[in-house]
Amino acid sequence: MNKTIEKYQHKFARFLGAERAFAFWKGRVALYALLRALDVGRGDEVILPGYTCVMNVNPIKYVGARPVYVDIEPDTFNMNVNLLEEKITSKTKVIIAQHTYGYPCEMDAIMNITGSHCIPIIEDCCLALGSKYKGRMAGTFGRAGYFSSQWNKPYTTGLGGMVITSDRELAERIESLAENEMRPPSGREVFMLRVQLMIYRLLIYPRTTALAQNLFRYLTKKGAVVGSSSTSEFEPVKEDDFFKAISTVQAHSGIRQLGKIEQNIAHRRKMAQLYDELLAAKDFKPSNDSRDSAEPVLVRYPVRIAEKDEALTQAAKAGVELGSWFECPLHPIETPLASYDYKLGMCPEAEKASREVVNLPLHPRANEKTAQKSVEFITGFSKAD
Ligand SMILES: Cc1ncc(COP(=O)(O)O)c(C=O)c1O
Repeated sequence: MNKTIEKYQHKFARFLGAERAFAFWKGRVALYALLRALDVGRGDEVILPGYTCVMNVNPIKYVGARPVYVDIEPDTFNMNVNLLEEKITSKTKVIIAQHTYGYPCEMDAIMNITGSHCIPIIEDCCLALGSKYKGRMAGTFGRAGYFSSQWNKPYTTGLGGMVITSDRELAERIESLAENEMRPPSGREVFMLRVQLMIYRLLIYPRTTALAQNLFRYLTKKGAVVGSSSTSEFEPVKEDDFFKAISTVQAHSGIRQLGKIEQNIAHRRKMAQLYDELLAAKDFKPSNDSRDSAEPVLVRYPVRIAEKDEALTQAAKAGVELGSWFECPLHPIETPLASYDYKLGMCPEAEKASREVVNLPLHPRANEKTAQKSVEFITGFSKAD
């Protein structure tokens, strides 16, 4: 194993307080490895919230299992635990607890339910690096946790994924899978990612983000950059080279980012607090997780508004960095929902949130001025409750 990747894995595991960490090309690849290592296959069911990224559902379909969606509760956007038990059947093989936007799930309640059925939980921490529940890091409650370090995530290595676990048997299975089946990324992919990371570091600021994202989507379609998702990933059909390893370029970047992780987390917390205050001062409902048990580290700051589409159009023109996940229960919107076993109406709260939620930046390049500008902009629209 490459020493840089080993070092990155080791540092990541230590930061989270897990025994082992395994790095992959993307977060979705980390989930795929986990499902395979947990023997999830044809005929099995995997429960997850109906408010997620479709790239998170693909690995479930790739292994031949059926995704079963639980609606969310409106304050934290996480799985509504009261609806979980009724979704469990004799076919349920795994439950994915996704810590949406960084709000930690009610892990005690979830573990009480799954424990009585002996079903393993894996935690989707792709939006929640550093979030804590009852003083303990998200990702360390279940059998395993997985993370993403794609462009929009708590920290970025361009693309990237990680599994953490303290379960020795599971760790051995992941290791053996990786050894036998995982491929390295191509030289071209690694070269392009390196260039993209350089451009990102030099040029991407809140005011340039909307423009950069549009350009990036266009170049991805043309095959001129390494996109987060290829066109074929918008259908549940696995590409031959899907199960890919992380590159040294990403691992280097990850080690650098981990060196600054405490500042990153403190900044996110401070910015979220600032948004709370600025929004409350404008009589706009601030984000709403009032649990003492939760210490969220948010990836973006969600706000519900009534005129989401209009706000997004105007934000792009005004150079305001306004995010829009999730735009449908299985983001992004072009996805044919039926091929992912989702029917409209299945998760009404998730569908409502998709129509209302926009999100404001918290990343290290966003500052007090960004927050003031974002709040000024967003409070020009009507709040949705
Ligand atoms: C909640 C969630 N889980 C998993 C993923 C997949 O991560 P990646 O893009 O690194 O494959 C995403 C992607 O955006 C996500 O939002």
